[in-house]
Amino acid sequence: MATSAVPTERAISVTVNGTTYDREVEARKLLIHFLRDDLDLTGSHIGCDTGNCGACSVIVDGTLVKSCMLLAVQADGARVETVEGLAAGDELSKLQQAFTAHHALQCGYCTPGMLMSATALLRANPSPSDDEIRKALQGNICRCTGYWNIFEAVKAAAE
Ligand code: FES
Ligand code: FES
Repeated sequence: MATSAVPTERAISVTVNGTTYDREVEARKLLIHFLRDDLDLTGSHIGCDTGNCGACSVIVDGTLVKSCMLLAVQADGARVETVEGLAAGDELSKLQQAFTAHHALQCGYCTPGMLMSATALLRANPSPSDDEIRKALQGNICRCTGYWNIFEAVKAAAE
């Protein structure tokens, strides 16, 4: 009996940091793998692949998401922002500068996700309270810093 082939690839068009990419992707490919493997945007990290660590956080159509929890095909037509898009050329964003000034990273593995979570926070709420900063970062795990310097950096960027 003849069986009809099920298409496993889909054509998608995704705008990442202002550049539109038209690609064929496997229907099961996660957004984080699309960003890293297909677009070579390796700034977003994979820490767990289960939605727990936040290292893969990006902003999709203005909403903070963990890109290991989204299929690339779900981002078809979307506007994605990654850590690579935060700086303007050689000029780091105010938040990135605050991370540097406050020593808010050690190994740096969590940093892209922390920066994207804090960026989303400061856009929505430019003057967050201490509790709002803590809450905004609660989906991001850091194994190195003890969180305090990250908190201080976000607070400084808000000020
Ligand atoms: S890799 Fe996505 S939350 Fe950890
Ligand atoms: S700086 Fe190492 S995990 Fe956060």
